[in-house]
Amino acid sequence: MTTLREFQPDHNEFREQVLQGLRRPEKAIPCKFLYDERGSELFERICELDEYYLTRTELMIMREHAGEMARLLGKCCLLIEYGSGSSTKTRILLDRLRDPAAYVPVDISREHLVQSSQALVKRYPDLQVLPVCADYTAEYEIPRCDGEVSRRVVYFPGSTIGNFSAVEASGFLRHVTKVCGRGGALLIGVDLIKDRATLEAAYDDSRGVTALFMFNLLQRINRELDGDFQPERFRYHVFFNDELARIEMYLVSLETQRVRIGEVEIQLQEGERIHTEYSHKYSLESFRELAAAADLRVERVWTDPEKLFSLQYLVVV
Ligand code: AVJ
Repeated sequence: MTTLREFQPDHNEFREQVLQGLRRPEKAIPCKFLYDERGSELFERICELDEYYLTRTELMIMREHAGEMARLLGKCCLLIEYGSGSSTKTRILLDRLRDPAAYVPVDISREHLVQSSQALVKRYPDLQVLPVCADYTAEYEIPRCDGEVSRRVVYFPGSTIGNFSAVEASGFLRHVTKVCGRGGALLIGVDLIKDRATLEAAYDDSRGVTALFMFNLLQRINRELDGDFQPERFRYHVFFNDELARIEMYLVSLETQRVRIGEVEIQLQEGERIHTEYSHKYSLESFRELAAAADLRVERVWTDPEKLFSLQYLVVV
């Protein structure tokens, strides 16, 4: 393993973005802040819930079709993974890849990166693992690797693209096109539009784990930004917006209240909501169109028998 490239997160970023978001007429906090240590633990628990069909379905599709995926990626590919947290899915793929040139995990969390890279080096002693600590939506450089590279392939599982707005998603796909170049490809997990009941249950589980995941955002603000949020004065609210094909998640103030964050005071009316996350869903057609606009052609789609979730292989044209 070569040296880890440094990435200096802006320590004021959390504070500034929270305050900025809470001063807006429609209050919102960027969903990336959900994933601190406790948030990541809660998200892992979500992935194991019966109602949360996404993770187990994606794993099932990966297990069934990894051989074909590996054949499409071909010999000597440089595999770039965004968000290095999903080692189970990565291993299913790495187990099948023929002579990969290198594996490049890109993650904003240095700790995640070090841990997952070390585990992979142990399991795949011949694989060049070249971690990059960076925000994958920003510019970063792909490290050099020894040996021949047939193509660059970005692996982006988990339907994380669902967090992006339409504009962000097409910006992201264009970024992938640029990073991979001609002949490059993207292997991506995309959650599909389905009936409201199934979708809403996945984000409003009966054990309340998703609600805890959202409340952790308020607790994180209390811990890190000297806030005085009282989570019991909020409720978690979620619904599927079918016009925009997305799950919308909010924390709703149960009463008119003032909240303090450091020196700053924020007012909330009774019933006023703080937006915490979107999870966009796609049809095969809507995703194909989005990709085409970024010069990516969908070459292969794998789904489960119920068409809950998809893995898609796109090539740069
Ligand atoms: C990590 C973005 C894929 O949208 O399903 C799950 C996040 N939030 N439950 C999703 C999430 C609440 C998740 N992604």
